[in-house]
Amino acid sequence: MPSHDLVVIGSGPGGYVCAIRAAQLGMNVAVVEKRATYGGTCLNVGCIPSKALLHASELFDEAGHGFKAFGIEVPAPVLNLGQMMKHKQETVDANVQGVAFLFKKNKITPYRGTGKILAAGKVEVTAEDGSVETLEAKSIVIATGSDVAQLPGVTIDEKTVVSSTGALELAAVPKKLVVIGAGVIGLELGSVWRRLGAEVTVVEFLDRILPGMDLEVAKQAQRLLGRQGIAFKLATKVTGVETGASGAVVSVEPVAGGDSETIAADIVLVATGRRPYTDGLGLEEAGVVTERGRVIIDEHFATNVPGIYAIGDVVRGPMLAHKGEDEGIAVAEILAGQHGHVNYDVIPAVVYTYPEIASVGKTEEELKSAGIAYKVGKFPFTANGRARANRTTEGFVKVIADATTDRVLGVHILGAGAGEMIHEGVVLMEFTGSSEDLARSCHAHPTMSEAVKEAALAVEGRAIHI
Ligand code: FAD
Ligand code: NAI
Repeated sequence: MPSHDLVVIGSGPGGYVCAIRAAQLGMNVAVVEKRATYGGTCLNVGCIPSKALLHASELFDEAGHGFKAFGIEVPAPVLNLGQMMKHKQETVDANVQGVAFLFKKNKITPYRGTGKILAAGKVEVTAEDGSVETLEAKSIVIATGSDVAQLPGVTIDEKTVVSSTGALELAAVPKKLVVIGAGVIGLELGSVWRRLGAEVTVVEFLDRILPGMDLEVAKQAQRLLGRQGIAFKLATKVTGVETGASGAVVSVEPVAGGDSETIAADIVLVATGRRPYTDGLGLEEAGVVTERGRVIIDEHFATNVPGIYAIGDVVRGPMLAHKGEDEGIAVAEILAGQHGHVNYDVIPAVVYTYPEIASVGKTEEELKSAGIAYKVGKFPFTANGRARANRTTEGFVKVIADATTDRVLGVHILGAGAGEMIHEGVVLMEFTGSSEDLARSCHAHPTMSEAVKEAALAVEGRAIHI
């Protein structure tokens, strides 16, 4: 029976990073993956393909509308969707092959098949051809990720009614796309198809988009996305989706009650969240406790069964690739006798729309409900020289600091490149920095990042350029 120090089940950002770190620390590591390629949801059908399409569709949109003001006159761009999809696939291939290379480099043993935990120390792997192999492991890390959450009464067929996976590989631009859910997937993939020419309507149960994000940022983002042609139906619930030869009809009604209506669509994207994935893993038989599908762990990523750990989307916390990666590193270090940990107060979140929406730390709403006194500094990109030169003046930076200690508690950015700029806030907060620290850090001119410094100056009412 093959024996390993560590068997990781799942090769997504949580699992593959955990395996590499454990190998670096001298462990004999195996990874079990049922998919044909490594990298999990993120690399195959998540972060990476969506960003390839977001970037390509943004360029398409810019070529159509954005060049003229810079004095560049080009004929109307022509979409070659096949080539755009090829670009997406090449990006995915390069990334998943990169993980395979890293496994080889770090002498990690891969097992292709579905992993089932028989007991602490024992994982059974069933390959696609039905052959079964049992592995012995000192430790097991569950990193089986998540899957699309089904919406009761709506059947996802991945043709007319699609999940994010289907929405990443539509064969043609839909004339009308209805998106159910104004969360991250709805706004990102809604943006992709809107830019490529679809009429997009987003139906959201709540009375706001992007629940959990700073409300002021979300409201302004909604206005900007609305200007790009995305229609929002908030506080609205979907009561049914009928499909037929010519597409779908989505029935909706106001959450507060009132008249129902129907919206015709060629394609319906269901983007109402994801659920932890533990199907066939044998958790119940192995005695591993879950709650509403999530594997329960302690602060050291340990489940209730000694020797079995869990990380990533399958455990509590935000379902984000970088959160899973950091947990993968932390648990590997703990297994090696070190003090791995993750600072859950400082995990950035980025929505890759145009403009991008990025956030780290607490929102104003969270601080208010926790009764914590805070100060806010804001700076709009309209007052930033580089933003003017680039014609990217939409949005603003908001820095939130503790009213007494000045320690920065949150940074929220709506703007071009927000997903890169947010890391100033991440590093500052990791080192428990203050708004004064940020305000006194020299920022290169002319950069969009100067708006971050100005927002920090604005906390004490001393921004220079407003
Ligand atoms: P996963 O990536 O889901 O990997 C789990 C792996 O385990 C899979 O490969 C699965 O096949 C395998 N597996 C499951 N069960 C078994 C078993 N029994 N035996 C063997 N193998 C098994 N996050 C971001 O941070 N940034 C983004 O831009 C972003 N974009 C996204 C876009 C989309 C469309 C989607 C759907 C998600 C996106 N996410 C993004 C979320 C991100 O993909 C997840 O947070 C991340 O993939 C979670 O990593 P993980 O390792 O926990 O699990
Ligand atoms: P989400 O949780 O971000 O958004 C779901 C939205 O659907 C919410 O606004 C919710 O109120 C709404 N909703 C729920 N039920 C509904 C109903 N019946 N009718 C109408 N609206 C309803 O989930 P999403 O967008 O599916 O993404 C799943 C996960 O993937 C997220 O947790 C996110 O973290 C991750 N992800 C991250 C990305 C990033 O970091 N850029 C990109 C894409 C996904």
